[in-house]
Amino acid sequence: MNSGSGLDIDAIPLALYVHFPWCERKCPYCDFNSHEQFKPAEQSDYIDALLNDLKQQLGSLYQRPLHSIFLGGGTPSLFSGDSIERLLDAIDKRWGIGRDVEVTMEANPGSAEADRFRSYRNAGVNRLSLGIQSFANRHLKALGRIHDRDQAIRAIEAARLNFDRINLDIMHGLSGQTTADALDDLAMAVDRAEGHISWYQLTIERNTAFWSKPPSLPGDDSLADIQDAGEAYLRQSGFDQYEVSAWARPGQQSRHNLNYWTFGDYLGIGAGAHGKITRPGGEVIRTQRSRLPKDYMAAIADNKPPLQQVIPGDQLPVEFMLNALRLRAGVNEQLYRARTGLDATGIAGIRSELVSEGLLSDAPDRLAVTPLGFRFLNDVVARFMSP
Ligand SMILES: C[S@@+](CC[C@H](N)C(=O)[O-])C[C@H]1O[C@@H](n2cnc3c(N)ncnc32)[C@H](O)[C@@H]1O
Ligand code: SF4
Repeated sequence: MNSGSGLDIDAIPLALYVHFPWCERKCPYCDFNSHEQFKPAEQSDYIDALLNDLKQQLGSLYQRPLHSIFLGGGTPSLFSGDSIERLLDAIDKRWGIGRDVEVTMEANPGSAEADRFRSYRNAGVNRLSLGIQSFANRHLKALGRIHDRDQAIRAIEAARLNFDRINLDIMHGLSGQTTADALDDLAMAVDRAEGHISWYQLTIERNTAFWSKPPSLPGDDSLADIQDAGEAYLRQSGFDQYEVSAWARPGQQSRHNLNYWTFGDYLGIGAGAHGKITRPGGEVIRTQRSRLPKDYMAAIADNKPPLQQVIPGDQLPVEFMLNALRLRAGVNEQLYRARTGLDATGIAGIRSELVSEGLLSDAPDRLAVTPLGFRFLNDVVARFMSP
């Protein structure tokens, strides 16, 4: 469908994000929408709420094919295989989950959850993302994780028995961590990961326990050493950095995350879930659900729509760049118009300034940062803000 703005809405992929807002224990560094006191007996009510949420937000959007599904959290793996199966079956009936739709689920390597991996696969999950963080017990303890090194290794083995596509989340820049420690973690992950590693530098976020009582972190020089050595090691191990923190072997990139980074659309269901939808008129809206599980359940019971906010047209360039320039290879220039409906002449001035400063690639058909631009990504993106 061609909108008034010249946008072909049907050419914009539409994915589904499902949020699970509980964790066994809140990690002191984490500012994701996750809460303690999960009650297994209430999981069925939550699945009902998710399905009502989907029904309400999907409307006529079901006519656009479903691109990918991401079950994220929080800890979705607190839910039983039966619950996940009920959810995915209902999504399939309402929207249709095609054969090659990527269905990722985040899981915590606590042993109770690892036992469930087979049932998740049988329910239709085809990619598992494991929050390993580190293989060193002292770091796992300092990060407040509920699992130790052995449980992490066992969870990966259980995951490999059931899934061809696995991601391991690993963190670095941890308190007392040396470059050798960080490389040990990566070596374990490389040996065991099928094809994808998300390698995050620990950041101290507001509203976390680490914010009120910060651990002592490695200094800037040590952090730069860890970063350089880790990147070199991942590269020589056959992993390609396709995004700031995402590393993949060939063919193993996360399709769902690529849709965010290429400014695709997604519905967000569940407590605190965000969505982004391009309307037929060309307007781009962001949606958000209430963060607290009880407020979310009440809103769904009252049939309330999510909060909606239109992204003003003059903010679209920076919103697009905030995502697309995270990709190491950037994007084809035509994608800018295909996703925002805006003509690239509007950003030509700032683009040529950034090219002359050596921050953006000079390839005429690409929007991509140079290696220098990658180091100063936030500054580069900020230059696309409207005055
Ligand atoms: C939503 S969590 C999901 C996974 C699952 N709940 C778990 O922790 O096992 C996604 C990932 O973000 C990363 N992460 C969370 N907070 C972070 C922080 N403050 N700094 C760096 N990475 C962080 C962790 O690697 C985590 O596994
Ligand atoms: S890092 Fe994962 S397990 Fe820890 S609180 Fe955040 S979402 Fe929960």
